[in-house]
Amino acid sequence: MAYKIAIIVGSLREASLNRKVARSICGIRGDNLDCSMIEIGDLPLYNQDYDALPQQPEPYVRFRDQIRSADGVLFVSPEYNRGIPGVLKNAIDVGSRPYGHSVWDKKPAAIVTASPGSIGGFGSNHQIRQSCVFLNMPVMQQPEAYLSHVTDDSFDDSGCLKDGPLKDLVAVLAHAFADWVDMIHRSRAALAEDSAHVAVAKAKEHA
Ligand SMILES: Cc1cc2nc3c(=O)[nH]c(=O)nc-3n(C[C@H](O)[C@H](O)[C@H](O)COP(=O)(O)O)c2cc1C
Repeated sequence: MAYKIAIIVGSLREASLNRKVARSICGIRGDNLDCSMIEIGDLPLYNQDYDALPQQPEPYVRFRDQIRSADGVLFVSPEYNRGIPGVLKNAIDVGSRPYGHSVWDKKPAAIVTASPGSIGGFGSNHQIRQSCVFLNMPVMQQPEAYLSHVTDDSFDDSGCLKDGPLKDLVAVLAHAFADWVDMIHRSRAALAEDSAHVAVAKAKEHA
């Protein structure tokens, strides 16, 4: 069974390089990653006053439901001014609240940053990672994915990565992410099973 992956792209640009990279990752592991691009451009700027409203803004409800129902999250983002694009940070904040109801909790994640520049969005990548760590998301550590020198020329007419070292790296990444999501879910299931056995054994002891 394929894992449901929510892809969040930190660029709203129609011809976004990062969006194309995200599509390529899913194309490579279509067998066990069922990917959906999650819209973040319509999310109103987060305001803590909203938390107290009986009715949350409709795009918040839609976004939170989409993340809640996902088995994993893939962030694919540019770097803006050596940091995380505001639109992506806003989405992360929206998903993290109201307090105690974060939709990110325990979701396995991976972070990819792509840029035409030479350091591949390193600054943005680590700011996203910092939020994920705080939000209790197990984030894949290797391979790291700072994709540098990515341009329109890296893709063919259908928007897929052309053959070459970049595509090879993305393929390694796609396989590692599929394995990562699988490992997290299997270990959780095993732990839950163990706890259930312990509970049953204890109940028998006291019977
Ligand atoms: C406001 C802004 C700030 C940017 N800052 C950086 C930066 O810090 N580092 C970098 O590598 N590229 C930077 N860029 C260039 C982006 O990497 C480039 O525009 C890229 O194509 C954006 O990603 P996208 O194609 O997915 O929209 C910046 C672009 C914009 C619009």
